[in-house]
Amino acid sequence: MRTQVGIIGAGPAGLLLSRLLALQGIDSVVLENRSREYVEARIRAGILEQNTVDVLTEAGMGDRLHREGLEHRGIHLQYPGVRHTLDFPELCGRRVWVYGQTEVVKDLVATQLADGPPLHFEVSDLAIEDVDTDSPRIRFTDADGTPQVLECDVVAGTDGFHGPSRAVVAEGTRQQLWERTYPYAWLGILAEAAPATDELIYAWHPDGFALYSMRSPSVSRLYLQVDPSEKIEDWSDDRIWEGLATRFALDGWEISTGPVLEKSILPMRSFVSAPMRRGRLFLAGDAAHIVPPTGAKGLNLAVADVVLLSRALVRLLQEKETDLADAYSDTALRRVWRATHFSWWMTSMLHTTGDPFDAELQLSQLRRVCSSEAAARELAENYTGLPY
Ligand code: PHB
Repeated sequence: MRTQVGIIGAGPAGLLLSRLLALQGIDSVVLENRSREYVEARIRAGILEQNTVDVLTEAGMGDRLHREGLEHRGIHLQYPGVRHTLDFPELCGRRVWVYGQTEVVKDLVATQLADGPPLHFEVSDLAIEDVDTDSPRIRFTDADGTPQVLECDVVAGTDGFHGPSRAVVAEGTRQQLWERTYPYAWLGILAEAAPATDELIYAWHPDGFALYSMRSPSVSRLYLQVDPSEKIEDWSDDRIWEGLATRFALDGWEISTGPVLEKSILPMRSFVSAPMRRGRLFLAGDAAHIVPPTGAKGLNLAVADVVLLSRALVRLLQEKETDLADAYSDTALRRVWRATHFSWWMTSMLHTTGDPFDAELQLSQLRRVCSSEAAARELAENYTGLPY
């Protein structure tokens, strides 16, 4: 097999890259080690920046997003006795959408399989070779058990944090890694319950952080800060709802409960790997960086990488100019570090550590964001996404 761009991983980054390249007349093949069912079922983030919505819309992927996505104009920031609304359009002229990453992936997979470039699920034994030449290749075994070789001009590593691409970059470059593991985790639930709030609620509470999010007018997505050593079996639905009710408590307001459809515990970490390129292998999305979910930046950062990468590859493969490809890693990493700082800042402001000094600093920061337009605007600009 031969293609221009071999894409490893059929998450939002890989699928969107394939789509953006196809619209520019560049062919690609997408390889994914999981099944279609698995990829379309995994529950992930839910907030799309304005930039992300614009990119998906321009790529012809906006139909269901505009029909079923929920447009939001702000968030509520809560600490004991206070629920304060930040109005994003007023603060920075931008807004966000609630539309699950799962839905974005379903839309991209459907389009790709209908009339897009090839997409192979359940491939195994994948190896990336000769990335320091102009003709790299990917070896893999297809779903039928047949060994295959995919000859490429470029390989895109959009294979997530656990994929093989980052290690190949590390072998041939002076790789630098930065990592922060946070001393807390999120317990997340998906519940069949109409959201009892118009906007997402980010709540600081002495018991720990809680986040009230949603997926549709009848499905809520909620999170509780827990210790990373907690076991999901120890959290009955009743215990979870009680914890949520305590942390979101406000006079005259009540949480709405319902059957829990899914629950799991998610670790929280920040991670950045540089460079995001070795020769003809380019990394994008979680393959190169992870942010904790508090800033809702993970998916949006992957989309930003892919927009940049698609432009660089069009220039490289069609115009034979290397400037954008050469600038890709540094340019992408500048946005990555902005999002890494914002996500770390939101995380640090909202999660209790057990240290009373930390708690007072957090409350002081929250009061500041809720009383100063300048401080609120700084949050709003980062949350809604800085312009590309
Ligand atoms: C979600 O809806 O899953 C969600 C929303 C906002 C966040 C993180 C996750 O900051």
